Amino acid sequence: MRRFLVAGNWKMNTNRASGEALAGALAAAAPSPEDGVEVLVCPPFPYLACIGDKVSGSAVAVGAQDVYFEPEGAFTGEVAVNMLKDVGCQFVLIGHSERRHVLGETDEIINKKVKAGIAGGLQVVLCVGELLSDREAGQTESVLDTQMAGALADISAEDAKDLVIAYEPVWAIGTGVTASPEQAESAHEYLRKWIANRYDSSFSEQIRILYGGSVKADNAEVLMGQTNVDGALVGGASLKPELFIPIIDAARKLASA
Ligand code: PGA
Repeated sequence: MRRFLVAGNWKMNTNRASGEALAGALAAAAPSPEDGVEVLVCPPFPYLACIGDKVSGSAVAVGAQDVYFEPEGAFTGEVAVNMLKDVGCQFVLIGHSERRHVLGETDEIINKKVKAGIAGGLQVVLCVGELLSDREAGQTESVLDTQMAGALADISAEDAKDLVIAYEPVWAIGTGVTASPEQAESAHEYLRKWIANRYDSSFSEQIRILYGGSVKADNAEVLMGQTNVDGALVGGASLKPELFIPIIDAARKLASA
């Protein structure tokens, strides 16, 4: 049985005070581990430590939004896996569409980051997803093939055992346009089959595949209720407790059903 993961990607939002207030509210409301739901928040780098303190002892885990693949050295502006671990991070997002399309990250860079994250003991949330033009051209699956094969090159099933995939159609991110439950399920089913082909089917049954792209309280339950959807990666609606807690509650309800 796959456990739901509800993750908040704060992107370049919040400040120390607003982030701590948000984290405090989530820690107070977060489900217990027996509820079958894990909660993750991914604040900006400067706040990882203070948000980690705020959620310490609660069921909320902390992750970074990115990481660099080198262990240390002359890489101005970059942050290494061990630094994230040192401040209490358990997870890291890799290959978010904004990293790919705004910051120019390639599948090759993403592959190096995934390898570094796994080698360092972080749980990697690998983000994949097609542009609207890809979908309109009927290229969704081939884009997913390329992104998955690129990101997971030379990574064994054993290495990937804690991997989480996030399917985030780029046209649904921050736009208020959500993939329909059928569109989400179809992509998730495709990704699960892809993993079964690349690795094996028992591994693909264990791996969690989150949906991301304009997840809100009013669509979370139907999206996460799809057979192959194991949680959500939430941007805008993760920035306010009154928007994010109902999404956690939707997962909790589905987990107990
Ligand atoms: P959104 O962002 O929920 O604001 O669409 C999702 C994401 O980018 O992870």
